[in-house]
Amino acid sequence: SVAGRNAIHPTGSAVSLWDRAQAKGHRGGVFWMTGLPGAGKSTLAREAENRLFARGIDVSVLDGDTLRAGLCADLGFSEADRRENVRRAAAVARILAESGQVVIVALISPTVADRALAQQIVGEGFHEIFIDTPQATCEQRDPKGLYAAARAGKIEGFTGVDAPYEAPEKPDLRVGTTDASRDETAARLAVYITDAIRLD
Ligand code: PPS
Repeated sequence: SVAGRNAIHPTGSAVSLWDRAQAKGHRGGVFWMTGLPGAGKSTLAREAENRLFARGIDVSVLDGDTLRAGLCADLGFSEADRRENVRRAAAVARILAESGQVVIVALISPTVADRALAQQIVGEGFHEIFIDTPQATCEQRDPKGLYAAARAGKIEGFTGVDAPYEAPEKPDLRVGTTDASRDETAARLAVYITDAIRLD
């Protein structure tokens, strides 16, 4: 109820972001990866996580498939559900980033409007990263066989087939992935993130 809502008073932390950053040796931030199904978001997120962790950075990954197994288990792939999926991921990412973590989010997040919502929820420290793999490559890889299923009419509203994907026009970072350069791509990502969370 409205009366109930008025009774909610969020409190801020007494520990400042700066104190947390000093203690960890780096700032927090949200690195939001968007891209088609099969673009390599999850793989790259995990590889970047490994590299950053090895350098002592407090890092975690919020991945679409993982979130959909738990926090977002009630959501499907309608426009409204995807938006809610993005909203929840952004809200969690913000909490983690405020605790000083580096959060890598790997979600299709197919529309400009959904990603603008994520940016608005997260606020400062939001970075949009476009995993720019050509659709033909994604379809060829088809790691979960879902493009084939969608082309066969067994899945409705599959991103890139009969649901839209709006590529970001001005992402903070754009990476193309082909298997030959996957290591390089993960390394580039790790460098970008390391630069972005530097204390000075
Ligand atoms: S979204 O649009 O941001 O809410 O999607 P996300 O949470 O990232 O989930 C994407 C993964 O779910 C699988 N899947 C589908 N994707 C798109 N459209 C439909 N209809 C669909 N149904 C299932 C798909 O395997 C996506 O995995 P990735 O890792 O992106 O390839």
